Amino acid sequence: MRRVLRVLRAAAAILAVAWAGACLYFSHSDPSLVFSNEALSRPLPAWPAGFLWGVATAAHQIEGGNVNDWSRFEEEPGRIAGGDRSGPAVDSWNRMAEDVMLLSSLKGNAYRFSIEWSRLEPTEGTWDEGAWARYEELVTRLRDARIEPMVTLLHFSLPRWLADRGGVTANDFPERFARFAAEAAKRLGPRVDLWCTINEPNVQMYLGYVEGIWPPGRKSRVQAAAAFAGLLRAHALAASALREHDRGAQVGVAMNLISFEPASRFWLTDWLTARVAAEAFDWSFYDSVRAGRIRFLAPGFPRLDEPLPALIGSVDWLGVNYYRLERIRLAPLTPGLVGFEPEPGPGPKSDVGWGIHPEGLLRLLRLAWTRYRIPIYVTENGVADAAGSMRSDFIRGHAYAMSQAIAEGIPVRGYFHWSLVDNFEWTEGFAPRFGLFRVDYKTLARRPAGGSEAFRSLAP
Ligand code: FCB
Repeated sequence: MRRVLRVLRAAAAILAVAWAGACLYFSHSDPSLVFSNEALSRPLPAWPAGFLWGVATAAHQIEGGNVNDWSRFEEEPGRIAGGDRSGPAVDSWNRMAEDVMLLSSLKGNAYRFSIEWSRLEPTEGTWDEGAWARYEELVTRLRDARIEPMVTLLHFSLPRWLADRGGVTANDFPERFARFAAEAAKRLGPRVDLWCTINEPNVQMYLGYVEGIWPPGRKSRVQAAAAFAGLLRAHALAASALREHDRGAQVGVAMNLISFEPASRFWLTDWLTARVAAEAFDWSFYDSVRAGRIRFLAPGFPRLDEPLPALIGSVDWLGVNYYRLERIRLAPLTPGLVGFEPEPGPGPKSDVGWGIHPEGLLRLLRLAWTRYRIPIYVTENGVADAAGSMRSDFIRGHAYAMSQAIAEGIPVRGYFHWSLVDNFEWTEGFAPRFGLFRVDYKTLARRPAGGSEAFRSLAP
């Protein structure tokens, strides 16, 4: 009897060690990392020389008057919360000068914005000179105000002529996009060095083709894989077009990175699920770039693995858009096999229900640096906070995460807060307020929101 017990105990111990070892193997970040209040209240060290401290916006969300695939999608009943339409948005097309002044008033030294392809090439093959002139004026104003521009070529919205033949899955999307990139480099290149080819290809693929709640509203994993491949091809061609026409171009892609954590640290399956989700959602785009192959592997999706050598060396930096972490578990009965834990705990939650976890940013910066060894910009980070009561701590917490990363030797080169002004938040409409400036939607007047002072006080 004793012997049996001993054997059982030994077997249990071996199993426990193997289990813990396997958890560790699949884990790729440390969920126990938590910033103490004491650490968060310490003054931050000075930013490294040349550190960019700015804001990010996107054309369709702020300009107003855009006619593209999104403005058409907004017409479909039930697509946008509250039946909102982007419409005049916050009229930034006509208020560029004012917006630049607002950024200067916050001591910002960098501005990430997107140029709207549907304005610049309203019909296929014809450039709108007036629209180009407007963006040229914007970059001139920025340079005059000593603000470094970062130009995003594609921030979700597409010209209708392209959307009508398949958008990012159209055969000629990569070539058309590269032609647009070349034109942008010729016109804006003399005053722009930092180029972001594509914003969040992972989100565009996931919401547009898996969930089907963004244009083109498809729910097809086959189409999703085609979108992933199309976005990679387009990025590769655009990157070389930018470099050809703008010698000093510094090119990157802004990824939406979610810090995926296991719902329970005791379940190996949760660790595994978190890992698989991170590999697919967070890392597969840059992994493909690094490998020079279009590679995608995720349960239920067609497997992609084909060479695309032009991807190699197509990025100079990695853009991290960080908003949240997700605790997930294996959910065998749901279609994507992933179950999401509701945001737990007592901490504050943003108006769109996301918890505030600056630790997640540090984890992701460490992971990104370990994987790719290229400089990093935090190309977006912000909080929906209509009352303006959370934004100061939010900004300080994330600034702390970056300063920790920098102290560890990770080359974080800049931070772009989302966003300068409240704006059209895609399917959420105008309700979430992310702006450092609050917009009165009747008059479109801007006034400082809670958190703008914290942002200003942390400027280099
Ligand atoms: C990001 C998008 C950006 C904005 C923020 C809140 O994923 O890139 O356009 O909507 O979320």
